[in-house]
This record gives sequence, C-alpha cells and structure tokens, in this order.
Amino acid sequence: MKSKKKVIVALDSNNINKIIRLVKILKQDVFAFKIGYQFFYNFGLEGYKKIYSVCPKIFLDLKLHDIPNTVEKGLEGIFKMKPLFTTIHISGGDHMMQVSKFKKNNTKILGVSILTSLDSDQTKKYYNQKNVKKLVKNFTLAAKKNKLDGVVCSPKEIEYIRKEVGKNFIIVTPGIRINSKIKSDDQKRVQSPKKAIELGADYLVIGRPITKSKYPLKVLKEINKTLI
Ligand code: C5P
Repeated sequence: MKSKKKVIVALDSNNINKIIRLVKILKQDVFAFKIGYQFFYNFGLEGYKKIYSVCPKIFLDLKLHDIPNTVEKGLEGIFKMKPLFTTIHISGGDHMMQVSKFKKNNTKILGVSILTSLDSDQTKKYYNQKNVKKLVKNFTLAAKKNKLDGVVCSPKEIEYIRKEVGKNFIIVTPGIRINSKIKSDDQKRVQSPKKAIELGADYLVIGRPITKSKYPLKVLKEINKTLI
C-alpha cells in the first residue's frame, strides 16, 4: 500500500460542487481525499458516491467509538463503501479493536489516539495521565497489539511513535503547514510536509493550505516536489 504520493487532502466544506471540482483538479496528484464529519453528515452516502465516482481513493474519517458489536456493524457498512482508510478510537478498548478486524476487507483501519485538542490538564482529568506522549505511546502500542493497521497522530508525536511501532505500521498526520500561517488558523502544533515525512509519517492530511488556496493544484505539486 505504500505509495509515492503522500498527501491526503481533507475535503472540509459545505459546498459539494466546489468539492467535486477540487477533486477533479487534484486527483492525479494526491494519495487520497479525506471525508470527515462535515462532508459525511451534510451529504451522506449519496455525496460519498459522487466523490467516489470521480476518485475512489478515499479516507473515510468517521472515528467510530461504541460497544464492539455496534462498531463491528458500523464497520461492515463502511467496508461496503470501499474506502482505503477509516478510523476508530483506540480508547474503545481491546475488544472493540479486535472486532474491527473480524471481516476480511481491503480497508485499512487506523486508530485515533488522544485528540490533539486535549491538553495535559484534560488528559489528567479524563485519562488520569498528565504525560500526553506517554498516553499516545501506550494507546498506539495497544492499537498495534490489537492488529489495527496504523494510527493518526500529531506531528509532535511521529518520531516517538515510529520508534515504537516499526516501519510497517501506518502513521498518518494532520497539522501540516507549508510556511507562513494562514489567517485565523487553529492548528497549534504544526510541521512542514517534508519534515513530517522525515520524522516517519507515511501520509499527510492537509486541508486549508491546499483547499483555501487560489491555486490548489500548484500548492499540492509544490508540496509533492519537496517529498521526493
Ligand atoms: O485544514 P487543515 O489542514 O487544518 O485540516 C486538517 C484536517 O485534519 C481536518 O480535516 C481536521 O479535522 C483533521 N484533524 C486535525 N487534527 C487532528 C485530527 C484530525 O486537524 N488531531
């Protein structure tokens, strides 16, 4: 599954026609497109199929988190949609992660570790652990033990996680910025595309630096050039 193309473009928008146009423009130069809550809860399966028919390389990021049976049934539905990647929360527990691998399919399942929006006070409150890195490491090792295919983590953790999991475990990272920050940006811990790959990421999720650009294909091609 390792590909030379490493960028996954996040399709976070309420304008489906704009998204379809963007997918047509970028599809030759991406690894995949990420469909998350905003797209899926606005446009549903119908919208998904529209994107899929233009470009079937999709990371369906729905971050499932429920009892094992419910997650298993949810995943069965997701597998029918044939995304390349999908996500579940590692904190759903061992059994939940194990059921996710019961059915044979080609969709890779990535574990979401600790949301990057939680600071150490919040992780202390909700996970009784102030050391976020340690938590992410433990969660990632649990994901590997339970046979998930990889994790989503912040650029800050890539190097640390890669050391622990070896080279075949997939690491996907958001929080990528090219150089100067875009206006009213909410990403705090950012990394350049080149550096994130050097640190050990396999794929980069990039949204606004590409989608909000006047010349999205140009920006994407420039990023790709830095990754060769
Ligand atoms: O626009 P931007 O490049 O910040 O988009 C990043 C994408 O990655 C968004 O779809 C966002 O939901 C997702 N994401 C993130 N931070 C995480 C996990 C996912 O930004 N910790």
